[in-house]
Amino acid sequence: MNVPEGFPDGSFRDGHPAGLYARLLSARAPLRHPELPLWVVAPYALVHEAAADPAAYRSGDGILIDEIGRSYDAPPTIMHTDPPDHTRYRGLVAPAFRPSAMRRIEGEVRDRVRALLAPLLASPGGAFDAVERLAVPLPLQVICLLLGIPEDDWPRFFRWSEAIVPGAAPELDERERDALRVECGTYLVRTAHERRAAPRDDVVSRLALAEVDGDRLSDLELVMFLIQLLVAGNETTRHALSGGLRAFADHPGQWDALRAGADLGPAVEEILRWTSPVVYFLRTAARDGELGGTRIAEGERVMLLYGAANRDPEAFGADAGRFDAARAPAAPGLAFGFGPHFCLGAALARMEIRILLEELLPRVGRIRPAGEPVHNGSPVVTGLRRCPLALEPA
Ligand code: HEM
Repeated sequence: MNVPEGFPDGSFRDGHPAGLYARLLSARAPLRHPELPLWVVAPYALVHEAAADPAAYRSGDGILIDEIGRSYDAPPTIMHTDPPDHTRYRGLVAPAFRPSAMRRIEGEVRDRVRALLAPLLASPGGAFDAVERLAVPLPLQVICLLLGIPEDDWPRFFRWSEAIVPGAAPELDERERDALRVECGTYLVRTAHERRAAPRDDVVSRLALAEVDGDRLSDLELVMFLIQLLVAGNETTRHALSGGLRAFADHPGQWDALRAGADLGPAVEEILRWTSPVVYFLRTAARDGELGGTRIAEGERVMLLYGAANRDPEAFGADAGRFDAARAPAAPGLAFGFGPHFCLGAALARMEIRILLEELLPRVGRIRPAGEPVHNGSPVVTGLRRCPLALEPA
């Protein structure tokens, strides 16, 4: 089995990488990349093994192909940190993202979902783009709620996050992008100072005051972290939301089953497994070792293909390539990664998906495809750029 030339970029132009994943999975071992200095790892067990072991597979030397060989002046993000620094960082920020913290904003998230759905439900059967109308605005609004950004500032905030997220807002040139990033940073530093002086019940306040053994986040760390949330939380959740709706449009029987009372928990997990918005993250071998019987030398990169691992028949059964909202897998999905870097926003993303389904189920008898979906072709965060759907009333 060879990794196709031009992988990953070229292989993603045609849309969802399911076919490619199946081919890479058939090898059952790490595969040497034909052009890049890295091993491609697709099997669930091997991705799981490497992600679980930060002492053997480090994040500090970069987690994206673009970062190979680049050095940075800025302090590393949480994703680019290894233990013990990562343990300290994570200890400071994790409490703000516990499920209990998410429950506190659940009512407001539901109100936002209802507001986004209202105009769509008011014109039953009308075609709309689920990316534009639901999947883009919902995660942005939810991040603003979580951070306690006043609603008047949301439009500015949305603009900034477009400038920050790689690949979004192609009309901006680098100079405009930098200017918006600086504006965003300044705004966030000011917000952090305000919250330190007068704390509220929001994530910025909690992060600004978080202390472990007398240690706090510096202003720069705090702002970098907040920006990281925008990057990590928006595009990913967007693709799970739109891809999940499209999956139900393509599998109306499964929508019927949910409407008849089937459990929502497995449906949310299956949407995450099925869409797996994060294609891969890299690690660097910290010492000579082996993975699945293949020798990996110190300093070599491994590409953990979370998306492929989530389609592995050895973990999810012979029908791993099928969307099954009632699936009860023996293994947990890897859409959020595994190990110490397990997604901090997992509870938030799960809640958004669940609330969207809960609000649609009593009102919508059928989600219909209303045209061909358009894939974004990204080799890092994969999903739909356009998702035309129509909602038939219950
Ligand atoms: C469906 C939506 C999402 C998916 C598929 C996703 C996926 C992931 C994955 C795979 C990782 C692991 C990184 C690694 O292995 O190096 C991760 C980490 C992270 N995610 Fe998410 N994410 C989602 C939503 C969110 C949201 C909503 C937020 C924030 C509000 C968020 C914040 C983070 C942060 C801060 C990390 C870094 C954790 C660490 O390095 O300790 N994510 N995410």
